[in-house]
Amino acid sequence: MAAVGKGFGKCILLGEHFVVYGVPAYAAALPYGMEVEAQSASVDRMPQGPYAEAGLLALSRIKANLGVKVGLEVTAIRSLLPVGAGLGSSAALSVAIADAVATLAGLNCTRIKLSDAAYEAEKAFHGNPSGIDNTVAALGGVLRYERRSHLGQTNVIEPLQVKHPLSLLVIETGEAGQTKVQVEKVAKFKQANEAVFERILLRAWDRSREFMIAWDAGDLQRLGDLFNSAQDDLFGLGVSSEKIELAIRHARDSGALGAKLTGAGGGGCALALYADPDALQLARSAFLSKGYQVHLVVVG
Ligand code: MEV
Repeated sequence: MAAVGKGFGKCILLGEHFVVYGVPAYAAALPYGMEVEAQSASVDRMPQGPYAEAGLLALSRIKANLGVKVGLEVTAIRSLLPVGAGLGSSAALSVAIADAVATLAGLNCTRIKLSDAAYEAEKAFHGNPSGIDNTVAALGGVLRYERRSHLGQTNVIEPLQVKHPLSLLVIETGEAGQTKVQVEKVAKFKQANEAVFERILLRAWDRSREFMIAWDAGDLQRLGDLFNSAQDDLFGLGVSSEKIELAIRHARDSGALGAKLTGAGGGGCALALYADPDALQLARSAFLSKGYQVHLVVVG
């Protein structure tokens, strides 16, 4: 018997890093992600390639969480997500594996249950993840996500309706970032600068509340301003990079309403918001002529 499992890639619209400390964040699934093909086997196996080691670790964590004892061979992995780019490749892989494991084991799991299983793998990869990546990788759509698990409570997941489309450009910086390293960097910053961190966190709470107001009103300029303000604080925490800053400068020069890093930073991708699809197309051409790899994402 064979099974196919799927997980979405994602971009974080607002609130990365602050979400680890309980501030509600917003993420949109990408229309593509990861797909795995798997079959029952005597022992667990992964295909050779960039996911061989991480995939095996994810598989064993996920099987333990779902209570599956039989062996499983992943025979193929199809991905449109660059690794270490902040687009949720590890969460999409974990969710896709959980999906295939559940199907092969004959478990009737909800996508939330798959997300919870994938979270076990995410912890192995990233140390102290908030759970936003695996949640959006499993559920898709646009979500407001509030971590409460670190307080012994249930996380709050709210799917958002898209009444006003967003024209977004994901710009690859070409350098990989590691979520674990960046999350630890912020934890160290917090330890060394408690009072400053508290003030930064308060601003993140304000932005999070303002995001919902701007989202509901379709106030793109305000959303762009929130992107810029979030980027200032992410820069202050030390999770931006020269290449991210350069991509953001180009984005602002190309007419973006706002731009920020997306995901953990330290490399990976920048995310820029434009007024409409025409402005997005113009920006895309400008970035391509500079040699960047970019992805158009129209949310809604
Ligand atoms: C990574 O996509 C988002 C971070 O906030 C980490 C996490 O929430 O687990 C940086």
